[in-house]
Amino acid sequence: MNKYILTLLLSPLSLSALAQNRVTVNADQGKTVISRHIYGHFAEHLGRCIYDGFYVGEGNTKIPNKNGVRLDVVEALKKMKIPNLRWPGGCFADTYHWKDGIGPKAKRPKIVNTWWGGVTEDNSFGTHDFLNMCELLGTEPYLAGNVGSGTVQDLSDWVQYVNFPSNSPMSNLRQQNGRQVPWNVRYWGVGNEAWGCGGNMTADYYANIYRQYATFMEPKVGNEKIFRIASGASSDDFNWTETLMKNIPGKMVEGVALHHYSTFGWGPNEKGSATEFTETDYAHTMNEALKMDTFVQKHSDIMDKYDPQKKIALVVDEWGAWYEVEPKTNPGFLYQQNTMRDAILAGATLNIFHKHAERVRMANLAQAINVLQAVILTKGDKMLLTPTYHVLEMYNVHQDATMLPIDIKTEEYKVGDYKMPAVSVSASRDKAGKTHISLVNIDAGKQQEITVTLKGLKASGVAGRILTSAKVQDHNTFENPTKVKPVAFTGAKLTGDNLTVTLPPVSVVVLEL
Ligand code: AHR
Repeated sequence: MNKYILTLLLSPLSLSALAQNRVTVNADQGKTVISRHIYGHFAEHLGRCIYDGFYVGEGNTKIPNKNGVRLDVVEALKKMKIPNLRWPGGCFADTYHWKDGIGPKAKRPKIVNTWWGGVTEDNSFGTHDFLNMCELLGTEPYLAGNVGSGTVQDLSDWVQYVNFPSNSPMSNLRQQNGRQVPWNVRYWGVGNEAWGCGGNMTADYYANIYRQYATFMEPKVGNEKIFRIASGASSDDFNWTETLMKNIPGKMVEGVALHHYSTFGWGPNEKGSATEFTETDYAHTMNEALKMDTFVQKHSDIMDKYDPQKKIALVVDEWGAWYEVEPKTNPGFLYQQNTMRDAILAGATLNIFHKHAERVRMANLAQAINVLQAVILTKGDKMLLTPTYHVLEMYNVHQDATMLPIDIKTEEYKVGDYKMPAVSVSASRDKAGKTHISLVNIDAGKQQEITVTLKGLKASGVAGRILTSAKVQDHNTFENPTKVKPVAFTGAKLTGDNLTVTLPPVSVVVLEL
């Protein structure tokens, strides 16, 4: 071998030319902040999310709680840095009359939860309970108002009840119920899925109704306006976003929502098992999840036409995987297990949100506890953290950090008819000057070697954590709650401006430089 070939083989340039996956982190180009609010969560009166999940009742002496709110859950969610929590739905929001949930608990009316299992809802967890819980969690509340079966007056009263400081009928009522100072709630949803469970409205009809509701929600929070979120499209319903953007004046709306679930179909028994699935099923789920990139891009393009300055946020206030419920559980409760498949889905989706950080400034994983792609599962006094929890906890270093644009060339992951990039990456620089890179190996069969060029960044060292497991079906159970958990990662090497990373199959890594 002559000297020239040897030099070529050993140079960083040649290393990157040989690598299957090549990434450039443009550390000199960061300008957009990744809002911490894209790490938001969702708590609906659905199955065991509120009752048994967050709230076990004031009289519970077996499970440590404060005012009925589980303390183990509070500790875990604080560690994950939960930035906001959406409540009370979902579909439930458009059946919810908030005045049923205030005042002495014994006197609160009981209703039927018509969307979710037809169970009796005793309203023991209401506005005060939720907003006080948000204070305990150190998270911002996001209240979803009832448009489908409520009135303009009801929603306007709710805003007054929780936000108005001085003498008014609603603030006086709040004070009579034990809360002197307002909670100053900034985030408000104006209905939910208005095209479906929120009233089966057309986009034109909803746009008009939105304007009416939003007019009477005007009060400010301190010196800021409240942040009103219009009920948005499902997945690829671009006409919905177009109609809203065209017909709602920009000064009347701060966010437009989008919902996208990764599923196998909406028919009976079509959604597949959360834990027993083939590699093709896994590839299907990931293929559905990765569509988020195109959906967000296309909805953003429409928004750009009407709002080129990007004043209005795209709020993905429901996202995640939706499978069949666990065997022998109530089909209306949407209780599903959570495997490494869900961890990969979460990591790749968050990387997509980072890429679109200029427009996507809020998102809510559905849902926080015991429902759909939950971060926490509970059983009596036991609680476990799911693989999805660990991804959100590892990724929280990106909250409010500056997104660093990425150039990426990756190998293809191919299973049957499904083809997708094998690797997903994002990066950001935090306020202390630390750079974090998140890497996901979607490939279930192959480790991936990645060469990362750090442009405009002099790093002195690299450390990180990895979440992986032998099988993509692996998950935590109440018998073995820590089977899947993050550990220190030793597969990254820094040489000058280059980083080489070896990712095992189905793994999520967060590096700190
Ligand atoms: O998250 C479960 C349900 O999914 C929500 O209630 C609804 O908005 C969506 O269809």
